[in-house]
Amino acid sequence: MSKEPQKSKTRVPQGPSRMTREELIKESQRWLDIIQAKRINVYQRRRITRETVDNFGSYYNKGFLDYRKSVSEAGEYASIEWAGQGVYFTDVMGRRYLDCLGGFGIYSAGIKHPKIVSAVQAQLARMPLSSQELLDPLRGALSKMLGEITPGDLQYAFFISNGTDAIEGAMKLARLYTGNSGFVTCLRGFHGKSYGSLSLMGKAEYRVAFEPLLQDVYFVPFGDADAVEAELEKALAVGMDIAGVVAEPVQGEAGAIVPPDDYWPRIREICNRYNVLLIADEVQTGLGRTGKMFGVDHWNVAPDIMCLGKALGGGVMPLSAFISTPKIWKVMETNPFIHSSTFGGNPLACSAGIAALNVTLEEDLPGQAAKTGKYLLGELKKMQERYPEVWIEARGLGLLIGLEFVDSEFGYSVAAGLFKRGVLVAGTMLNAKTIRIEPALNIKKTQVDELLEKLDDTLKSLTT
Ligand SMILES: Cc1ncc(COP(=O)(O)O)c(C=O)c1O
Repeated sequence: MSKEPQKSKTRVPQGPSRMTREELIKESQRWLDIIQAKRINVYQRRRITRETVDNFGSYYNKGFLDYRKSVSEAGEYASIEWAGQGVYFTDVMGRRYLDCLGGFGIYSAGIKHPKIVSAVQAQLARMPLSSQELLDPLRGALSKMLGEITPGDLQYAFFISNGTDAIEGAMKLARLYTGNSGFVTCLRGFHGKSYGSLSLMGKAEYRVAFEPLLQDVYFVPFGDADAVEAELEKALAVGMDIAGVVAEPVQGEAGAIVPPDDYWPRIREICNRYNVLLIADEVQTGLGRTGKMFGVDHWNVAPDIMCLGKALGGGVMPLSAFISTPKIWKVMETNPFIHSSTFGGNPLACSAGIAALNVTLEEDLPGQAAKTGKYLLGELKKMQERYPEVWIEARGLGLLIGLEFVDSEFGYSVAAGLFKRGVLVAGTMLNAKTIRIEPALNIKKTQVDELLEKLDDTLKSLTT
């Protein structure tokens, strides 16, 4: 996505006209027939394309028609996503794409992993959502497995649906446990867009319109442990209470920024010394993305609270969690409803989570990410040397990789050029100066080579 998108040539959407009840029943039935159709013909495909663009324009958000390269770059057509399997997906017209964006980290096991889909289907047939009163077995089972697999004393989990919900819960837990209110977090960090998590946002463009956010949040450069300590020292000196330090193990949305090796061990030690909680936002890095089960495992650090999301739902269901130690969790025992969620930890999501964990371990997704990521980053670095005037850096850890170009416009042209060649990658949300590569962790070498070949071809065409 770029700040300077090309204007879409797609049809300007017509304004809404109110439908009658009968028309709405007919309209919803038509879509139900489409959802359940075994096959759709070319006229239906074209109509779906046209209608989707119109619906986004008239009922969802016109802005997306300008910001999506799948619409704007294509000019006369829009690419409407339709089906997927593994590392490939197809649009409604049948064009196939290699998915190297992976839903920003949700498709670690690939799209529609058969084992995860089948678990969710079986649970759907039995009981989709929770009664809200009885104890549900899958919530208990998944909590146990996460308690077993997460580092240190982390043991108790609470489930919700989005990454931002996990951060909100972590912030509330840290305040509840410490009785303090402030947080120290990182410039360019990304933790979600609800009010608490937005208060930790390290990028002005998402914050400014919503100020005042939480007032006692202090920002330091990512990767700088001395700056964390200095902030805690200042807070102590003037009597401001800090509940926790929040950071991503590797910054994702900022463009795959890997901190120095001593960063996490040092902030662990600093948090202990100042008696504040260390909160690891593993929403994007968790479950193998960086080549270890958790990002913090690269440095053998156990945080006090860990947040998971994205890949936890196996690319099939929305699922996130915050996890902490028995000592900290105790503050939620007296009133277990102090934090609750209607849909959080529902049986469908937990069945997906259990299957995702099983697949992550059985297929050694972290190991695959480490091996493939090393190969891919090595090849990208070699390629970067051939385009030094436009390509600044290739960096990352495991299969969380960022390619930084000279400016947003050029980065956008690379992403758009790749898309034209059938490969999906992404800029960060508003800026394409750095594009991100986050494919399924079980992507094959031949598929990585396909990405490399098409990237080289794109760069050649943009620089000659
Ligand atoms: C590190 C991190 N934390 C939190 C979030 C927010 O997750 P969600 O969009 O599911 O609310 C994201 C999303 O990209 C993320 O990358």
